[in-house]
Amino acid sequence: MSSPRGQFSSKTGFILAASGSAVGLGNIWGFPTNAAENGGGAFVLIYFVLAFCLAYPALMAELIIGRHTKSNMVSALQKISTGAIAKNIGKLTGFYGVIIATLILSFYSIVAGWMLAFLLEPLSTVTGLSDVSIWLTEFGNTRNIIFSAVFIILTTTVISAGVEHGIEKWSCRLMPSMLLLMACLIVYVMFQDGAIEGLKVYLLPDFRQIGDPQLIASAMGQAFFSLSLGVGTMLIYGSYLSPDENLPAMGAIVTIVDSSIAFLAGLLVLPALFVAQQQGVTIYNEAGNLIAGPDLIFQTLPTLFHSMGAIGIPIALVFFCLMTIAALTSSISMLEVPVSYTIENHGTSRHTAAWLIGVVVFVLSSLIALNFDRLFSVVVTLTTEYSQPLLGLMLCIFATWVWHRDKMLAEIRSGHPQVEQSLFWKIWPGYVRFCCPVLILLMFVQNILN
Ligand code: PFF
Repeated sequence: MSSPRGQFSSKTGFILAASGSAVGLGNIWGFPTNAAENGGGAFVLIYFVLAFCLAYPALMAELIIGRHTKSNMVSALQKISTGAIAKNIGKLTGFYGVIIATLILSFYSIVAGWMLAFLLEPLSTVTGLSDVSIWLTEFGNTRNIIFSAVFIILTTTVISAGVEHGIEKWSCRLMPSMLLLMACLIVYVMFQDGAIEGLKVYLLPDFRQIGDPQLIASAMGQAFFSLSLGVGTMLIYGSYLSPDENLPAMGAIVTIVDSSIAFLAGLLVLPALFVAQQQGVTIYNEAGNLIAGPDLIFQTLPTLFHSMGAIGIPIALVFFCLMTIAALTSSISMLEVPVSYTIENHGTSRHTAAWLIGVVVFVLSSLIALNFDRLFSVVVTLTTEYSQPLLGLMLCIFATWVWHRDKMLAEIRSGHPQVEQSLFWKIWPGYVRFCCPVLILLMFVQNILN
């Protein structure tokens, strides 16, 4: 039965929605390219360590606070605080999270719009509309704005349908489709010449890079972005979860799904790069590094698809369809953050809140698109490299320094009666109280110094 503020109807619904939030462009694009740039297997190894030792504990803090308070991040942090000062800091932190989620969605929808444009390109090629093909694949303000608008409309449509009929229903449809498309592409690419060389670059660790501060900072940023941490997405998804569910297990499943899909994406993208090299495509830049940023997705891989002849058209279609789906299941979770806040704290209906904020996101993303060179990378750095870890740090502090330990225990116990005897309870509270803040802070300072 659905509750008035919405609730996931099943465990699977929650797992697919939370994994859908986590699995996005960050996994399929960010993870493989970060690995390629930072010592291949060495990055993969450090990433997995950080995902489970730093990101998972922080994810648990969000899920537990969310389910206990049954509210958005602004109210949640106030509810678990005692005393005016803590309540005010909680409110400000919550607002900061809402703003950062909105800003992330604003730049994310531009990139997701590119995926949509590249998804349509094979269709225009088949139908002989070469001018349209060029327009779809060339960087331009009109294209960027139109497709980010289409993507925002898709996202808003899902969110305005609510938790069970929007987020859960679409995550349950899109996540399995995405996995299927990905599996088909991996199998196809693995049988092409050059794939094994790509696998070696991806999986063989260059141990000399393992302690490199740049590698560690990139892996931490990637882990926080990939698990959608800090901005309240996981907190709000946790708030729609039934009290009977075992939270530590749910969080672990989401972390495992997210990391596994990132790993699988590496099995697709890096071998594909080396297959492209076999076809005569340049895959190293002038500095001798593998092409990684936007050029990888929007030049190197499309060149590979074109060089494949007729089969390249369905392959390109499947690849960009995969990217679009991954982006959509993440963007809906970002939009839910400001929408849930507006509904709960301002009494707005879900439909109005969703479309109102959809318009705000569109205005912001158009501003970024029109001032791309000046704004895009600044917004990305500000939100994902600085704000997400800082907010993650604040959530760890709120969960373990501000909130009452017994209340937290009672919350976990409701879905996991033996939690006190578990390894989780022996390690997690102290770890999130002392180790996580120090580790996040150290890496944050290191990032700034770099
Ligand atoms: N986790 C998403 C990805 O890997 O692409 C990105 C993301 C989603 C970041 C939701 C932040 C967020 F709130």
